[in-house]
Amino acid sequence: MSSTLLLGKLALITGAGGGIGRATAVRFAQEGATVIVTDRKIKQAEETAKKLGGTHLPLELDVTNADNVQSVIEEAINKYKRPPSITVNCAGITRDAFILKMDDSDFDLVLNVNLKGTYLVMKHVVQKMIEHKVGGAIVNISSITAKMGNMGQCNYAPSKAAVETLTRVAAKEFAKFGIRVNTVIPGFVHTPMTDHVPDKVKELILKQIALKRFGEPEEISDTIAFLSSDKSSFVTGASIEVSGGQS
Ligand SMILES: NC(=O)c1ccc[n+]([C@@H]2O[C@H](COP(=O)([O-])OP(=O)(O)OC[C@H]3O[C@@H](n4cnc5c(N)ncnc54)[C@H](O)[C@@H]3O)[C@@H](O)[C@H]2O)c1
Repeated sequence: MSSTLLLGKLALITGAGGGIGRATAVRFAQEGATVIVTDRKIKQAEETAKKLGGTHLPLELDVTNADNVQSVIEEAINKYKRPPSITVNCAGITRDAFILKMDDSDFDLVLNVNLKGTYLVMKHVVQKMIEHKVGGAIVNISSITAKMGNMGQCNYAPSKAAVETLTRVAAKEFAKFGIRVNTVIPGFVHTPMTDHVPDKVKELILKQIALKRFGEPEEISDTIAFLSSDKSSFVTGASIEVSGGQS
């Protein structure tokens, strides 16, 4: 299926070697966008780019590294002569443990990737958008666990709550530059991130979901595509739950 929701747009996706990032890259390409497909694991980014066909750009990007963030944006500008007008922050990790057993370095790591990484990418991409007088849209990814306060996620859940708050701040700061910033809040989705969740835990989670099934990455990308497109031109600072009614 191909259509024209994002025709001619240049989009940067982080974590695009993973489940939701990859599905988003595929969807964006189908909608006519050119995609800068980034991931900390370059092989996975390249695999995603291969799926897209056409002229997309896979690049290695660790979102916690400010120099790396800046050099990737520069490389994209050198190639396309403009910064991306769409950015989707999909890079994210979990390091689950109960508070009393949490390794302090795992606490920091999760905050660093999920929250600081989102901040760094937004900051540097928006600097270039302003310099080049390019408006556009940024979509950040939170999680339903931020609202639910999931046991075992004392690092992940607060990091995702902070992403939502950061998004609302960014929406206010960047509106005058013609840049909208929104959050998607997925529930439990079938991806490599959730593959390792034990069946017992999955059964418990299923009970929390009104639709009584897990989501597919493509169902998250549908909302990401909407928020990245001109169809959502009056939507900013918003959070959209895509969770099958998980609470
Ligand atoms: N799968 C779910 O149920 C679910 C639910 C709610 C929110 N989310 C969020 O959606 C986003 C995508 O998750 P997913 O399920 O596709 O996970 P995933 O593990 O399949 O993909 C995440 C990708 O991020 C990359 N990554 C990790 N650290 C990075 C870093 N420092 N710099 C750049 N890339 C890095 C990984 O290499 C991986 O390819 C994440 O932010 C996740 O927290 C997922």
